[in-house]
Amino acid sequence: MLLIGQISDYFFDELLETYNSREIDSLLLIVVKEILNLNYAEFIINKQKILAKKDYLMIVEIVKKLKKNIPIEYILKKCEFNGLPFYVDKNVLIPRQETEELVEWIKQHDFNLALDIGTGSGCIPIAISKYKKTSFTAIDISASAIEIAKNNARKNEVYIDFFVADINSYEPNKKFDLIVSNPPYLTKDESIYMHNNVLLNEPKSAIFVENDDPTFFYKTISFFSLNNLNKGGMLFLEINPKFCEETIEIFKKNKFVNIELKKDLNNRNRMLKAVLN
Ligand SMILES: C[S@@+](CC[C@H](N)C(=O)[O-])C[C@H]1O[C@@H](n2cnc3c(N)ncnc32)[C@H](O)[C@@H]1O
Repeated sequence: MLLIGQISDYFFDELLETYNSREIDSLLLIVVKEILNLNYAEFIINKQKILAKKDYLMIVEIVKKLKKNIPIEYILKKCEFNGLPFYVDKNVLIPRQETEELVEWIKQHDFNLALDIGTGSGCIPIAISKYKKTSFTAIDISASAIEIAKNNARKNEVYIDFFVADINSYEPNKKFDLIVSNPPYLTKDESIYMHNNVLLNEPKSAIFVENDDPTFFYKTISFFSLNNLNKGGMLFLEINPKFCEETIEIFKKNKFVNIELKKDLNNRNRMLKAVLN
């Protein structure tokens, strides 16, 4: 028999080899909220109560998966992006905080027809459409990602035109006022700096590009946008801070002007805006 307060010791005993104390605290609060529906204050107040057996068994299963480095979002099959609920599983990237910053930047602009390239869970067009009236198209090369994105749009009650398509060959039947993309941009060499829960679980095709062509997607998107963005149309991209200068050069060479950069919370150049001249 375990008391609710003892979940904390159980987490630290089981997970300290895999996570640091701050990460364990944060995982504990997520699990307590999910399984017991208690926030932090309620968890403290209820510490002396007995943990029901079915809740204990669910917690044990979650801890087993956490020990295998499976991200909590994939274990619970959900995450929050821009305050909205999203279903996620191993077929889509778990939306990141820097992408929320990109979305906040885009929300400050006026546009009507928009395209998201490499939509994954659909987080970008869904969060923007929930906030402002736009007509969004979104593509991804992965059919499983598009299925998930469609479900997320339904869950959040917005309409997005989703297509399975490869940006290298996609031919839309209209031009856009805005194109956004968070394409794969980390080189395989950069994987040595990454946590195992990303490396072992998230789809590699959503994250990595070849070492010898780190700006591959920016070249493709630049070429695509020249033909499919209205004159004066805007491009918003998440970029690799390591190849910031090379990325800017691609857009400068291809008739894009007013190039602006935005830093992420770690003060690294992570977002780019450019306007088609
Ligand atoms: C970094 S993830 C971004 C996912 C989502 N937009 C987000 O911000 O969380 C990149 C996405 O691009 C998709 N992708 C990769 N290559 C692609 C291609 N050639 N054409 C279209 N989408 C592609 C991947 O399947 C993946 O979902």
